[in-house]
Amino acid sequence: MDLGLRGKRALVTAASQGLGRAVATELVREGCTVVISSRRIDKLRATAAEICAETGAPEDAVCGIAADVAAAADVERLVADAVSWLGGLDLLVTNAGGPPGGTFEQVTDAQWLAAVELNLLSVVRLVRASLPALRSAGGGRILNVSSMSVREPIPSLILSNTVRTATMAMLKTLALEVAADNIQVLNLAPGRIETDRVVWLDSQRAKRENRPLAEVQADERARIPMGRYGTPAEFGRLAAFLLSPANGYMTGQTILVDGGVIRAL
Ligand SMILES: NC(=O)c1ccc[n+]([C@@H]2O[C@H](COP(=O)([O-])OP(=O)(O)OC[C@H]3O[C@@H](n4cnc5c(N)ncnc54)[C@H](OP(=O)(O)O)[C@@H]3O)[C@@H](O)[C@H]2O)c1
Repeated sequence: MDLGLRGKRALVTAASQGLGRAVATELVREGCTVVISSRRIDKLRATAAEICAETGAPEDAVCGIAADVAAAADVERLVADAVSWLGGLDLLVTNAGGPPGGTFEQVTDAQWLAAVELNLLSVVRLVRASLPALRSAGGGRILNVSSMSVREPIPSLILSNTVRTATMAMLKTLALEVAADNIQVLNLAPGRIETDRVVWLDSQRAKRENRPLAEVQADERARIPMGRYGTPAEFGRLAAFLLSPANGYMTGQTILVDGGVIRAL
């Protein structure tokens, strides 16, 4: 199936590894030109080269621009530079790192504010800065990388549970406001996708509980009806579909990609 993405121009944040990188890879494979961003320029340069090698795309199909999405000035500069390098913008993928763990009584005001900057205001600012270019292109897509925690709170992750839900509500409202401009807004919520972050989370739990890593991972898999973690490529392919003209009529939705973990209707 041709998704119709050839020639589209995309900005993907937090894309030096993990889910963001997987989305960027699938967009490049489909013929998009992509700006990838994260805080570390060396890592971005290496990732850009690897994506081109993996997909067989020319070197100028991907460009890395360093930016911290939690910093307002970085976001302004990133979007301006990305639009200038791409010659416009059709697709925006908003992604960031996750906030630290903690229960209600453990997290401080400073951590609450930092989580809002990282997982809510980053999206607000990226979208605000990108809307003029998306409108000039005659419309486009915005896809945010969220978490299954927006459907069912995850214990000891109160910051993610709360802030990502606020972001989901903001995106739903935004979707209604920009639908008439031919801009579709989607929120993609992963369950357990095997990235470095998930391996690290499992290792931390293994250490805490003084158990072998393999045992902790078996526990996690047992909670997933499909019996396995998702792969970054599976996440990336779904994102590419949602960002493509093949998805012509869906907006304002949160889509779970979780192997069936969330039991709610
Ligand atoms: N993997 C999962 O199963 C899963 C499940 C639920 C939710 N999530 C969420 O999905 C997002 C991506 O997860 P992942 O598994 O891909 O994590 P990851 O493998 O740790 O990758 C995180 C990426 O974010 C970048 N990043 C972190 N903080 C940033 C910042 N302030 N500004 C710009 N870039 C930043 C990192 O690059 P630099 O260090 O170079 O900045 C890196 O490229 C996270 O918010 C995570 O909490 C993931």
